[in-house]
Amino acid sequence: MQTVTTIADVRAQVADWKRQGLRVAFVPTMGNLHAGHISLVTEARRRADRVVASIFVNPTQFGPSEDFDAYPRTLAADQEKLAAASCDLLFAPTVDEMYPRANSTWVDVDQLGDFLCGANRPGHFRGVTTVVSKLLHIVQPDIACFGEKDFQQLAIIRRMVEDLFFPVEIVGVDTAREDNGLAMSSRNGYLSAAEKQQAATLQQVLQAMCAAIEAGESDFRALESKYSQTLSDKGFKVDYLTVADADTLAPAQLPHRPLVIAVAAKLGSTRLIDNVRVGVERDR
Ligand code: PAF
Repeated sequence: MQTVTTIADVRAQVADWKRQGLRVAFVPTMGNLHAGHISLVTEARRRADRVVASIFVNPTQFGPSEDFDAYPRTLAADQEKLAAASCDLLFAPTVDEMYPRANSTWVDVDQLGDFLCGANRPGHFRGVTTVVSKLLHIVQPDIACFGEKDFQQLAIIRRMVEDLFFPVEIVGVDTAREDNGLAMSSRNGYLSAAEKQQAATLQQVLQAMCAAIEAGESDFRALESKYSQTLSDKGFKVDYLTVADADTLAPAQLPHRPLVIAVAAKLGSTRLIDNVRVGVERDR
């Protein structure tokens, strides 16, 4: 696997593949790769002839009190994992390459960003959509793979691509999980062994809420408060636990709409997110 750091080098390589008629898939990441990221590369590999991954810890999606400086940077280990997963090209730019001067053009998706994580992380999704726009313009892939764990991010990116006619297919990939059900995340590395066990409660609560709705419970607000209490009792500081409309991401009112139950909660100082779709076949 080749690693490049400049926009010119990625463009040259992808243009060469396109000239040969090859289909290119893209997996954007912030590095510190785990099995969840590798499942994105595997899916990309399955769907295309060449796979490009990027590693870029994007400063514009972190709030002033968030973990941008502390975010784990593990390039050498990540390169090994990508090569083992048959990734063809890694784009690992510097901040100066991606933001050569103070950024004045932003891509901002209305409404979908107002709920869930967007409500408590002002500017976060604007940073994500702006950097993903830049990356899609640089790489110009046929498809791009994103994890379903970040359900809101995926919904917002799909909407951006649709509204702005980006010529790319966005593919959502199932959340990879630890044996105890904990969704894989780079931030899991901040958890102690005991916290990792405790964190499995998030998925258990989502499954219990899902089962209740599937059994006919339609008082979503009552469910949210009951299970928020369960999480607080287990030591979580709940940011949100919401039964949301899976299309608008607003708190759901009607049981017959497609629903997603989404949670963000802190365990110690680590913020974890997870979600489950209601009425969708699950293997747990
Ligand atoms: O999901 C992530 O890792 C990031 O938000 C992304 C999509 C790579 C943009 O920086």
